[in-house]
Amino acid sequence: MTPYFTDHNTDVLVIGAGAAGLSLAIRLAVSQRVTLLLKDALPDGASYWAQGGIAVALDASDSAQAHAQDTIAVGAGLCCDEVVKFVTAGARAQLDWLLAQGVSFTEEQDSAGHPRLHLAREGGHGFRRIVHADDATGAAIQNALIAQAQKIPNLTILTSRFAIDLICKPVAHSSCSQTFVSPVDQLNRGGASVWPQAQKSCVGALIYNEIEHCVERWRSRVVVLATGGASHIWQHATNPGAASGDGIAMGWRAGCRVANLEFNQFHPTCLFVPSDQASRRFLLTEALRGEGAYLQLANGERFMSAYHQDAELAPRDVVAQAIHEQMTQHQLSHVYLNISHRNAQFIRAHFPTITAHCLHLGFDLTREAVPIVPAAHYTCGGLVTDIDGATEIPGLYAIGEVACTGLHGANRIASNSLLECFVLSAAAAQHILAYPRDLASATSIEDTLVFDKALDVTSKERQGVARAHQYALQMTMWNDVGIVRNASQLQRAATHLDALKHIVDAYDFTTGANRDWLTLRNLVYVAQLIVRSAMQRTESRGLHYRSDYPEIDFQQARDTVLHNTACPILG
Ligand code: FAD
Ligand code: SIN
Repeated sequence: MTPYFTDHNTDVLVIGAGAAGLSLAIRLAVSQRVTLLLKDALPDGASYWAQGGIAVALDASDSAQAHAQDTIAVGAGLCCDEVVKFVTAGARAQLDWLLAQGVSFTEEQDSAGHPRLHLAREGGHGFRRIVHADDATGAAIQNALIAQAQKIPNLTILTSRFAIDLICKPVAHSSCSQTFVSPVDQLNRGGASVWPQAQKSCVGALIYNEIEHCVERWRSRVVVLATGGASHIWQHATNPGAASGDGIAMGWRAGCRVANLEFNQFHPTCLFVPSDQASRRFLLTEALRGEGAYLQLANGERFMSAYHQDAELAPRDVVAQAIHEQMTQHQLSHVYLNISHRNAQFIRAHFPTITAHCLHLGFDLTREAVPIVPAAHYTCGGLVTDIDGATEIPGLYAIGEVACTGLHGANRIASNSLLECFVLSAAAAQHILAYPRDLASATSIEDTLVFDKALDVTSKERQGVARAHQYALQMTMWNDVGIVRNASQLQRAATHLDALKHIVDAYDFTTGANRDWLTLRNLVYVAQLIVRSAMQRTESRGLHYRSDYPEIDFQQARDTVLHNTACPILG
């Protein structure tokens, strides 16, 4: 019979196999024993579904500086300049790295007939700057990286592994002299600041093995959270279901700070299919608007020029809020996106995946306007890290959408997210290789026994209850903490979440944990953090729009940082 508990060792444990986790694992496995865990099967994560592409300044008149300026302008006063410069300056090298991994991007011919990368245009960018693989950039990248990863002997990939919690242990100050300075701290305190020295370090993680139905206790020199964002906290999202904020919840429970969770991006244009009750919405890339698609009401009337001089190419917060206002004002279930004025062959050639998907559902992009709605898309906030992806707990890193580096500020400009994954994974790889300590091998983790019985995978009834609570939570977040919120909505959401927290706290995870309950626990933790952050920010800025505080307040040009003083898993 399979034991309830198994012990495992590795040098670096990477949790999450999206763009951030896969690229980091590939870079580290040159010299380290790397174990890469993911919840489901490959390929998964938001990365695989990325459409538009990666922002890289390649045009002769463009520059990394111009890219940085556009990023900062869209970020509504909260981007950290140092991080923006670092990421935009690193774009070219990461593009070269991806090409070396075998990723093929869409090409065109220059005026002399030589091939060059085709650059698409997206909102907020002053230039054509988006390198892409047709309209399925994420799939092209992930397929190439997975093929590379599978060839590396030092790299073990384990699927159906659900990370539950981090294992952190108290450490003596002398063995842990790391000082932590995050860009978020610098922005908020007007200069370099040092967060108090950590009292503990991360030495591993507890993982639920869904194949064997047991818990694995992993000891590791370094743990990396690359678990993606939290958009599935909302009822409608562009992300796959894995985006339930697990890494943010795990980091928070271990004692990490979180920042800027009120800034969740809603993508303006997702296909609306009335009969489709699924929570996942299919994205219609912003690059469609980059090629001239416009937004309209059922009668053909366009409305975006009333909201922004760049009309359909305004930053995403403006476009999503405009659509929301139109839908509310006219009591509509959706508005329309129209690119049918462009040549049909052009549309099919540039957007083959989207054209085929829409056609399959009965919408012909080449001939008609298609119904669209906004949906939750990207988590700008997350675990506070420094510019190397390190959190304030030695031995613990967080990269990709799970982290808040200071790049996106109050609103992420299109196609900077994949870029951040690659730039930060390169930086983190260097930092991890230089990480001197192996506290894990010297630390006893045998007492870390949170789960001592076989996991309950049979009780459908218990799973059903967890799913019902998940649905209720997602509806609350959608209705009360959506594109537009106010104090009474936020209070209503907080009350509901408090009740759910009691239910989750009362649930006996040591004897009855299953994926649905573990997911619910994470959703509740992160939703509470989002609501707390949204309540604190009494202004409208970037992605956070409050109908009771509709103006920006320049006194609030700082990050919302929450600190967990409870830290239940101290070891
Ligand atoms: P993900 O790719 O989401 O990967 C997360 C990984 O963590 C997965 O492997 C998941 O299984 C795993 N995981 C999560 N929780 C656990 C757990 N508890 N235990 C074990 N494993 C876990 N950005 C751009 O820059 N350009 C684009 O064109 C673009 N288009 C997009 C289109 C869509 C439809 C979506 C949804 C997003 C898009 N984005 C785009 C955003 C971008 O794709 C993501 O921000 C980025 O890919 C996140 O990468 P990641 O590696 O951090 O996380
Ligand atoms: C899109 O293709 O519209 C998504 C791009 C992004 O989220 O960066």
